[in-house]
Order: sequence, then C-alpha cells, then structure tokens
Amino acid sequence: MDILIQRDGGVLTIALNRPDKKNALTAAMYQELADTFFEAEKDASVRVVLLRGNGGAFCAGNDLEDFMKAPNTDHDAPVLQFLRRISSAPKPVVAAVTGVAVGVGTTMLLHCDLVYAASTARFSMPFVQLGLCPEAASSLLLPRVAGYQRAAEKLLLGEAFDAQEAVGMGFVNRVLDAAEVDAFALAQAHKLASLPASSLRLSKSLMKSADAAAVAHRIDEEAGHFGTMLKAPEAREAFQAFFDKRKPDFSRFD
Ligand code: COA
Repeated sequence: MDILIQRDGGVLTIALNRPDKKNALTAAMYQELADTFFEAEKDASVRVVLLRGNGGAFCAGNDLEDFMKAPNTDHDAPVLQFLRRISSAPKPVVAAVTGVAVGVGTTMLLHCDLVYAASTARFSMPFVQLGLCPEAASSLLLPRVAGYQRAAEKLLLGEAFDAQEAVGMGFVNRVLDAAEVDAFALAQAHKLASLPASSLRLSKSLMKSADAAAVAHRIDEEAGHFGTMLKAPEAREAFQAFFDKRKPDFSRFD
C-alpha cells in the first residue's frame, strides 16, 4: 500500500509509503490522500493529521511517469481534490520531513500548520526546470511567507535547499536530527490533540480565512496553466531526460 494510515489517540498519521520511488505521488495516491483528509474532517475523534514519508524521503513530488502519460487535469482530478482538501483542512496538520521534498512535496507544506524537518532534508520546487509552473498556490503563498526575491530564487531556479534555509524562509518551524524528527512531530501533534478542538479549529480558521478565497482561486488558476504545460514539448523533453538520466536540452524551444 502506497499510503499508510495509522491512528494513535486523536492523531491520524498519513505515511507516504512508496520508498522505492522516494514517495512520488501517483493519481491513486492523491485520491487516497484527498479521501483521507475528507474522512478526517468528518470524524470528530480525529483531532490532528500528521503527514510523513517512509523510507528516508518525504515526497519526490508528482510521479513523472504519470506526468508522461498526460494525466487527468480536469477540475476534479485527484491532485486538485487533494490540494483543495489540505489547503482548507479545518483541523491542524503537522508535517515531519526527512530526506527529499520535491515539487508538491514542498508546496504541500505551505498548507500545513506545523512543519518539522530533519537536518538532512532537501527541499526543491523545480517546476520551471521541468517546463511547468508553480502549483498548490505556491505562486501566491511562497512570496508571502518568504518575501518575493527568496521565493523567486526557489521557484525560478528550482535549486534544492536545506532545512535551515527553509526555516529562514518561514515555512519550517524547526530543524531536528533525522532520528528525532518523527517522534518530535508526533509529540507536537499529541499536544495539539489534547487541546480543545473547537478552539483549535476557530483559531486556525481565523488565521486562514482572509486568504482562503485567493488560495482556492490560485490553485485553480495555476492548474489551468499546468495542465496545458504538461503536454507542451518543453515538459516532454524534461520528463524524457529524467528517465534517460541526462540533462534536458531546451535550446530548440523559443
Ligand atoms: N517520479 C517517478 N519516479 C521517481 C520520481 C518521480 N517524481 N522521483 C524519483 N523517482 C524514482 C527514480 O526514477 C528512481 O527509480 P529507479 O530506481 O527505478 O531508477 C527511484 O525513484 C529513486 O530515485 P533516484 O533518482 O535514484 O534517487 P536520488 O536520491 O538520487 O534522487 C530525487 C532523488 C527526488 C532528487 C530525484 O529522484 C528526482 O529529482 N526526482 C524527480 C523529482 C521531480 O522532478 N518531481 C516532480 C516535481 S513537479
């Protein structure tokens, strides 16, 4: 199973469990994530959601083989269902990041409430490097959280950066030893789970409500462009180059 769900008191842990592919997300995995977030919303006994990756990686982003097949990018595509659920989750979402967090592996963190990362974690958003554009409302949220130039450096160049830099950018709370990050994140999640749920929900909603409509709109706006760009020759070259284990050659494109 590529997604593992575990309950521990009020904490529902979602573990990405496709370690041989660095937890890259397929359409089926997005669907399961979306459904799990929806179930968590409805189940009053779930107080907090904890996201983590198994096998030493958090998430290598969208599965590039799925991208090669020009996947469903309709309004109700699994990836969009997931992004809408996590971005509007009424309950706290905690993330524990070890290893790589690429593409949506990083941008989903912008929707989490508490993010803890291992000192070995590596973040990147190589959308432009793949001939694509930002998603998950990262084009709106990253400049807000990190400042325009820092966001531009990460979103335009797409180069990897470490957990300390992610703290400086404002979307990681704390850096821990790799051996400690999961336990620490779980302990923080349990702390939240022991607090009054209605108070948590209201506090989160008050912090998020001013931006909620803009975030929802930007997710859809980005997705429209993303869907078109997935089929364009620049992206096809980038995906093929990844599987050929060579550098992409964009020189023939205007
Ligand atoms: N989609 C599909 N397969 C992926 C993948 C992805 N996003 N990321 C990694 N994999 C696969 C690799 O093809 C490899 O498979 P193989 O063993 O069958 O050859 C396996 O996972 C391990 O990856 P590898 O590249 O050997 O690990 P690494 O530690 O050297 O590098 C990454 C890890 C994540 C930096 C690198 O795999 C990578 O850049 N992946 C692509 C990330 C990406 O562009 N995601 C989309 C963002 S929009």
